Amino acid sequence: MADKPKIGLFYGSSTGAGETAANIIKEEIESSGVATVDMIIVSAQSLKAMENYQYLIFGCSTWNIGELQDDWNLKFNELDIVNFKGRKVALFGNGDQYGYSNSFVDAIGIIGVKVAELGGELVGFWPKDGFEFEFSRGSVEDVIMGLPLDHDNQPNLTRQRCVDWTHWVMEQFGLPIPTPA
Ligand SMILES: Cc1cc2nc3c(=O)[nH]c(=O)nc-3n(C[C@H](O)[C@H](O)[C@H](O)COP(=O)(O)O)c2cc1C
Repeated sequence: MADKPKIGLFYGSSTGAGETAANIIKEEIESSGVATVDMIIVSAQSLKAMENYQYLIFGCSTWNIGELQDDWNLKFNELDIVNFKGRKVALFGNGDQYGYSNSFVDAIGIIGVKVAELGGELVGFWPKDGFEFEFSRGSVEDVIMGLPLDHDNQPNLTRQRCVDWTHWVMEQFGLPIPTPA
């Protein structure tokens, strides 16, 4: 039997909100049997490791009013050495829609624009339904270019948001998770 496709999930999380989401996403994919997920803290190794994967999921929260979380901040410029051609990339990120309404999940936009410039194919855009905020660099028209999460204010919604989004991403990866009959 052929090996299962591998997904690289690169993330940075300062207080654990993004790590919680990453674990839910990994569990949802692996329990379906469709693919395996390597969870990697983005600052832990060379970003060249991203080239080991055709399918990538990036998780980055927003800090310091519109800036990347520390692990991503350290490595952001290193994205330039990654060949994103032919790779599909899905983004998720935590933020605080009430406390930082003018920079809600900006990290999704900062990383998304960069990956697109470098030739990666962004997937997993998500509606803004259920969120209230003024501005986000992650917005494109009426969607966000990845999954916004607000574990600070809506922790009880995190799991279902992650599960629903994971199914959408896997469909766009061409690795759909079968729905139970
Ligand atoms: C000092 C500070 C600045 C923040 N700035 C933003 C921001 O600009 N935009 C946003 O959406 N969230 C912001 N947040 C909220 C964090 O993104 C949120 O707490 C998130 O859950 C952290 O996720 P992590 O634990 O995965 O790093 C900020 C939080 C703090 C404490």
